[in-house]
Amino acid sequence: MERLQKIIAASGYTSRRKAEELIKNGHVYVNGEKVTELGTKVKGDDEITIDGVQLKKEDKVYYLLNKPSGYVSTVDDDLNRKKVVDLIETNKRIYPIGRLDYDTTGLLLLTNDGDLANILMHPSHKVAKTYVAKLNKIITKEDLLTIKNGLMIDNILCKPVNVRLRKNKQKSKYSTVEITLEEGRNHIVKNIFSTLGYDVKKLNRIKYDFLELDNLGVGEYRELTIKEVKKLYQNK
Ligand code: URA
Repeated sequence: MERLQKIIAASGYTSRRKAEELIKNGHVYVNGEKVTELGTKVKGDDEITIDGVQLKKEDKVYYLLNKPSGYVSTVDDDLNRKKVVDLIETNKRIYPIGRLDYDTTGLLLLTNDGDLANILMHPSHKVAKTYVAKLNKIITKEDLLTIKNGLMIDNILCKPVNVRLRKNKQKSKYSTVEITLEEGRNHIVKNIFSTLGYDVKKLNRIKYDFLELDNLGVGEYRELTIKEVKKLYQNK
């Protein structure tokens, strides 16, 4: 969401100051409704008309990023931390589809396509996401089974699609577990393990629906192909 006057100015129609005048004087409509308040925020795909002329909508862009640790998955941050959107070179107003924690690495999609973002983030669409979690100690067989069978997290059952032990490092005393979930509650993987007394020391998302990181290095990104975008739409 961005301020209306900023979007009008960014479109090249006029300066921000003139855009403010146009808004105040009742020349601007958003999705058919007159808007005269200056602070009004609009989405990239809202239809904006000025004196009956429609502003050109932004072309849609889709990126797959291998998120580094130490970046927030938001467009604004009160604490002025580094943001995932800063890693991608574009003048479009993109935002992440869902969130990865500040210290989580891995696959994150970013776009300016609000329709696709809404579809993928809606709980009814059950997008499978696979994570690799490095724990602070060796996990027991019983605890792995408990996770497999489903456990209550904040009074809601969480049953992963798949859980498997990747490795037990007996010498350095930690386990790495791969877990696939169709839900997207914040901190869900860390909460699953902390419920059973484990700390997640590292968390990496390796798969989102059918998309994988392949050979993208940490901090690198690529655009999705049209085929991939269609498939994301069609799968839902
Ligand atoms: N679960 C978590 O705990 N953190 C993430 O970043 C994603 C899923």
